[in-house]
Amino acid sequence: MQTLTVGLADRSYPIHIGSGLLSRADLLLPHVPHKKTMVVTNTTVAPLYLETLRRMLQSHGVDVISTILPDGEKYKNIETLTLIYDALLSNRCERSTPLIALGGGVVGDMTGYAAATYLRGVPFIQIPTTLLAQVDSSVGGKTGINHPLGKNMIGAFYQPQVVLADIATLNTLPDQELRAGIAEVIKYGLIRDQSFFEWLEMNMERLLARDAEVLQYAIARSCQNKAEVVAADERESGERALLNLGHTFGHAIETGMGYGAWLHGEAVAAGTIMALDLSCRLGWIREQDVTRVRHLFDKAGLPVIAPALGAEKYQQLMGLDKKVMGGKIRFVLLKAIGRAVVSGDVPADLLQQTLAACSAHD
Ligand code: NAD
Ligand code: GLY
Repeated sequence: MQTLTVGLADRSYPIHIGSGLLSRADLLLPHVPHKKTMVVTNTTVAPLYLETLRRMLQSHGVDVISTILPDGEKYKNIETLTLIYDALLSNRCERSTPLIALGGGVVGDMTGYAAATYLRGVPFIQIPTTLLAQVDSSVGGKTGINHPLGKNMIGAFYQPQVVLADIATLNTLPDQELRAGIAEVIKYGLIRDQSFFEWLEMNMERLLARDAEVLQYAIARSCQNKAEVVAADERESGERALLNLGHTFGHAIETGMGYGAWLHGEAVAAGTIMALDLSCRLGWIREQDVTRVRHLFDKAGLPVIAPALGAEKYQQLMGLDKKVMGGKIRFVLLKAIGRAVVSGDVPADLLQQTLAACSAHD
């Protein structure tokens, strides 16, 4: 097992990464001092891992309540969030009762937001079970839900007390979900870690084959990158925005297609190619850089062509991005592989060209 730290002074917390961590009472019990917790999970993950977690906690005298949510991005909304509050209130959960998120990014984001808001804040523990959640969403404290008009539009920054990434849980993850997680792994290489990008080019087959050593390395290196960015800029006043490479276009794809039609990681992959195409049109990176990245996404089985929403719809949806400032859309773009910047100075004609070149046509 490896342990990394997200350094946030008195709110610092460990990320434990390894196999079989769901059974490690020593990692979890210190965070459940009052011997009561609520586990929030979903209908897919509950039959796989809830009993293991429950048995481990109960064998140490912990009272375990659970809430099982419907599965899917389309349920990441206010109605489902209310189910968590209902369960917390009807089980008389107190300020000392930690909420444990057991699942992917959807469960993690919603549980985190419930933890941030129930009784004005209760302790929160992340047990991510998708690759995407282990490398990205469980770390850094972004929590929230979608609004019909925009992705993740309602939320809070609220850090967990511990992240427990049990790599063994990835054995049951469908291939398409594993690939979606790889999109966020590649992101770290692109924005700030060129040698990791090169390592991914060399090791993509082994990653797709779920080689345990390669998975462990990719998760730890991704979390190290994320932890450094979050420690430097927790509330996204600067550097943290770089973690949104491909997300301005990607969130437009997710909202425009209807939540769940495109997986988050798939939308980020196609969105990243758009961001790189735009960077190339600005003269910042070369055509061969775009081709090289497209090749890696292809190898990972990720989409590199965005859906045909139409330029007008893309622009309208991107106008709701959280990075919009003074009405101006700001993009995360590349100056080189391994070096990203945020820019609002994008000529309208270049954006139009990117939208036309990188999305499918009806
Ligand atoms: P997800 O939570 O929908 O999980 C994907 C699917 O895998 C679901 O059907 C889930 O039930 C299933 N699943 C989970 N673990 C499994 C396992 N071990 N075995 C089998 N099936 C399993 O999707 P995701 O990709 O994990 O997360 C995407 C969400 O994360 C999006 O809503 C996105 O906005 C959010 N996100 C948040 C952050 C953040 O910083 N908070 C960062 C990136 C993404
Ligand atoms: N996934 C983007 C962030 O955590 O900032």
